[in-house]
Amino acid sequence: MNELLSDAHARGLDAADPLGDLRDAFLIPQHDSHAMAYFCGNSLGLQPVAARAHVDEVMDKWATLAVEGHFTGETQWMGYHALVRPALATLVGAEPDEVVAMNTLTANLHFLLVGFYRPTRERPAILMEAGAFPSDRYALESQVRFHGFDPATDLIEVAPDEPDGLFSMEAIARAISDHGPRLATIVWPGVQYRTGQAFDLAAITRLGHAAGATVGFDLAHAVGNVPLALHDSGADFAAWCHYKYVNAGPGAVAGAFVHARHAHTDRPRFAGWWGHEAATRFQMGAEFVPAPGAEGWQQSNPPILAIAPLRASLALFERTGMPALRARSERLTGYLEALIDATLADTLHVITPREPARRGAQLSLRVLQGRGRRGRDAGRSLFDFLVSRGVLGDWREPDVIRISPAPLYNTYADVLRFAEAVIAWRDGA
Ligand SMILES: Cc1ncc(COP(=O)(O)O)c(C=O)c1O
Repeated sequence: MNELLSDAHARGLDAADPLGDLRDAFLIPQHDSHAMAYFCGNSLGLQPVAARAHVDEVMDKWATLAVEGHFTGETQWMGYHALVRPALATLVGAEPDEVVAMNTLTANLHFLLVGFYRPTRERPAILMEAGAFPSDRYALESQVRFHGFDPATDLIEVAPDEPDGLFSMEAIARAISDHGPRLATIVWPGVQYRTGQAFDLAAITRLGHAAGATVGFDLAHAVGNVPLALHDSGADFAAWCHYKYVNAGPGAVAGAFVHARHAHTDRPRFAGWWGHEAATRFQMGAEFVPAPGAEGWQQSNPPILAIAPLRASLALFERTGMPALRARSERLTGYLEALIDATLADTLHVITPREPARRGAQLSLRVLQGRGRRGRDAGRSLFDFLVSRGVLGDWREPDVIRISPAPLYNTYADVLRFAEAVIAWRDGA
């Protein structure tokens, strides 16, 4: 038997891994009285054990202090959103004033585009990837229409040029150069949701700026997954959610980045009182004076209950640091890849780039065949079989299973369980 497939080997890797005990900080869902092999951190990350205490603290304060909770104690609600700012800035490689926890991802994209997508007759276009997450496409298309332009000509979707929907940097550069004079804005993913491909944000930003466009990123699948250096990338803006690799819970408050060079911008924005400079916010004046930096893009007073679990989750990233976490992620995903190559090459085709620098934790798998089925039928059959064995990845139409070993809580033993379950399905066990 291949040594990679032995329980002892996987257990040995887990015992030797310096970050193996991080898993204890999470609640692992059960299946048939056993811990699930949960590979859906790219969709909804698991609950940190400490999250409940942070939520309870808010609930207790609300019960006992009510409105006074805004002004009482170190975690007073008035400054609650600022409690997460330093750790958030570190996580995305930004200065603290460049980030804010607010709203939800699609909403943040829209609000940021109000300022950073300023189309003119000469430069009306947004450039994005073909096959983007639908919400991004809907948002960008509606932005183009909102400004009176035509998505048929002014929403430019770059087609992938490599097999399996992957993009070479040359294809991105060519598209930016071909459309450069008409480009107002580029919006690109940090990690593509379907293929798991990671992109070079600094290179895309350089190309976009050279063409005269503003450049922003959707980091939904990148944050907490790959190391980010948003400030140094030079990106104008970015938005992301915290419910995937950041483990802040379903519908968690999202994040936004506005580069420091726009800290005092007079770009238009849709304003609200929480974006007003903090020192004079409660003078209740009629004139909007924006807070400098990302804070000035807020609208409403922060959703305290939605920020509470984020505090617990960011504490784990602070404790570990992204470089160490990323190293563990490469080890885990590398083990998954090695198992597939060694034992499942006839069944699974990896569409995610093979170079670790071009991907995050996720491997996107196309099911070739098995149990007399091919293509989508085989994929659905395998997916359902995995679920019945307590191995949870996710399914993306038309034919992809995404498996994301999350370095905070997945183990080598989980990865082995996945491979064993696929072998059992293939061999009709
Ligand atoms: C890449 C990407 N963009 C946008 C969204 C939509 O996020 P939300 O519903 O939080 O606005 C998602 C959700 O999974 C996503 O993966």
